[in-house]
This record gives sequence, C-alpha cells and structure tokens, in this order.
Amino acid sequence: MRRRLDRVGDEFELRFGGKPEVWMRAPGRVDLMGSHTDYNMGHVLTLAIEQDTWIAARPRRDRTVAVYSLNAEGGGPFDLDAIAHDWTAPWTNYVRGVADTLQRAGYRLCGFDGLVHSTVPIGSGLSSSAALEVACALIFVELGGWSIDPVRLAQLCQRAENEFVGMNCGILDQYSSTMGQKGCALLLDCRDLRSEPVPLGEDTRVVICDTRSRRELTGSEYPERRAQCEQGASLLAQFYPGVTALRDVTIDEYLAHEADLPLAVARRCRFIIEENERVLGLAEALSTADRGAICDLTAESYVGARDLFEIGSSEMAAMMDAMRSAPGVIGARQAGAGFGGCMVALVDAPQVSGFARHVEKTYARVTGIKPKVYAMHAAAGAGPLPTVPANRAS
Ligand code: GLA
Repeated sequence: MRRRLDRVGDEFELRFGGKPEVWMRAPGRVDLMGSHTDYNMGHVLTLAIEQDTWIAARPRRDRTVAVYSLNAEGGGPFDLDAIAHDWTAPWTNYVRGVADTLQRAGYRLCGFDGLVHSTVPIGSGLSSSAALEVACALIFVELGGWSIDPVRLAQLCQRAENEFVGMNCGILDQYSSTMGQKGCALLLDCRDLRSEPVPLGEDTRVVICDTRSRRELTGSEYPERRAQCEQGASLLAQFYPGVTALRDVTIDEYLAHEADLPLAVARRCRFIIEENERVLGLAEALSTADRGAICDLTAESYVGARDLFEIGSSEMAAMMDAMRSAPGVIGARQAGAGFGGCMVALVDAPQVSGFARHVEKTYARVTGIKPKVYAMHAAAGAGPLPTVPANRAS
C-alpha cells in the first residue's frame, strides 16, 4: 500500500510538477453466482475484490481533464466542453464517458490532472473498466464539491459504458464497485437495486483462477446473448402478460412454452431462469455452510454456462477440471461474462496454498498456459483512499 502510494505520488509529481490533492479508489469484482442475470433483472451474488483502481488528482482552474495511466499507453488532455472519443487510447473513453454522462445528468464538473494506477488485471473479467469509471466519477464528485448516492453513481457509470463506450452491460460491475462490503458477498437484486450482505465464513476463501486466455471474440457475443434473452422474455410475455424480463418467468412456465421459442433462445432462457434460482440457493447455502449444496450449485452453473448459454472455452474446461480436483475445493465455476478470463472457487481456508499449487500445475500441464491464482477477502466499495499520508494529501 505504502509503496504503491509513493510510486503513484512520485510519478504524479514527475508528470504534473506538483502533488496530488485527492485520491480515490474503486475495486474490481467477482461474481460467485449469477452469470448474465443482471440485465435480465435477476439476482447476482457478487463481491468487491482487493484489486482496485486508484486515481490521484489535483484540480485545475480550466475546463481540461488531463489523465494518464501507469498501466496503459496514451492519455492526455481533453476539454470538458467538447468531449469526443479517443480511439488511439481507448481506456480514456471510460473517463470521457463518465465526464460526459455526469454533465448530461446535470452535475457540475471541474477539470483535473489525474494519474491512474490499477491492480485489476485488464480484460480478464474482473471489471477493470467499471473500477476506472467509478474511481473517475468519485474524483469528479469530490472536486465538484457535491455528493451522490452510490447506487445512483453506479447507474451513471453504467450509462457511460452503455451510451458513450458502446458496451451494453448490466449494472453488476458498477454496483459491486460502489457498494462492496468488506468481508461479505452481496446478494444483489438487479430490479430494485437493493442488496443484502452475505457473510463469507472465516473458514471459506474466495480464490480467483485466471485462465489467462481470452477467446477471439468479435465483440458481438455479449450483445447477442442479451438480445436473445430479451427476445425470449418478449415471446414468453405473450403467454404471461406480467413478464417484462426473464426474471419474471418460473421454470415451469418456461417448460410449458419451450417449444414456442427458437432453439438458441430457449437455451439462453433456460440458463438464465435456472441461474437466477441458483443465486438464491447459493446465498442460502453459504449462510448455512452447506458445502454439498455449494458444490452442486456451482457445478450446475458451469455446465449451464457451457452448454446452454454457450460462453465456455477449452481453457475454461481445463481450469474447471483443475479446480474441481484440487485439495480443499468446496465449489468452482465461471465468472464474469465468460469466454475465458477468470473463474472462481470457494476453498477451505487452511487448504488454500495446496489448492493454488495443484491448480497452477494441473492447468499449465494441460494447456501450456501459466495461470494466475489468488485468494482474496471481500473488499469495501469505492471511496477515498483511507490512509493517504498528510504530505500526499496536501
Ligand atoms: C459483464 C457485464 C456485466 C454482466 C456480466 C455477466 O461483466 O459487464 O454487466 O452482465 O458480464 O454476468
């Protein structure tokens, strides 16, 4: 922590010739259950992770935001009165998008010099983009001298990603980043945007297993899945008028009309309806420490994601085998959007090192890829950095 503070502070001084005055952090997230249920208005069991994005900043008198990153090339100044995309440094579009969205929503923004540093691995399904959006939004809040409800902030960051960046994600990533609770998973209801904490017992650790592979995607897979779910909901609404999203459909209602749906749409619907139920099941299983149920629910989630939602990959299959055969495993499944990236396991705390060693060895032997395996505690949601030393803060 201290080293990271010094490094970012020193780099800030080198670049901008003065000290940062404001520091914000926003975490990434990992979902324990609920793949693609968020935009179907369903439930997700999610947690904020210890990996996070920091922005050190200093206000400017003009309407310019000059932002650079220690993790990515490019960056530079842009004008708050003429916000355009920068496709030469795509990561800056998250910052630009947040600025644009906050202004359109009526918030007064102040220009700043900012330096980003992130420990959330980029593009591995742990929401590095949401962490950047939220950290950036908090800088604007602080420098603008106003306050905002964290759920509203998450919604605005989601809007920035939907409308400015052009990725039609749900609310999961931004909500987890603003609302995370230390030591707890959140059982999130994506319809009313309320969540309740689900404590993760002392004897259970969350272990992220990064396949370090990303299937070649055209970018159309996520919107295509979303469109199929929405098509399924509107077809089922013809039989059940109260239905506005797949969250409203029970498995029996679905089964009664499975044959009325195109095949691929039917598979997507079945997965979402069952996955949504599994979220509630896992929350219950965690609170009663029912390890058998945790094992079964996570295994079913993976099989559904692979066969019905079709977001698997050969590396994910190899990782699943490695996790499931490791000592101390309680349950294991995919995480994030799928198509490679990170997966997640719940592991008996005393056995975490043996678990990690086994997964690293087994996965590397099968795929030739060295994975990243890290155990973590659930972290608090985004906010000011707690221990900024006085010489950095002023
Ligand atoms: C991505 C999206 C989220 C969510 C997950 C899948 O992370 O950004 O909104 O849909 O995929 O659960």
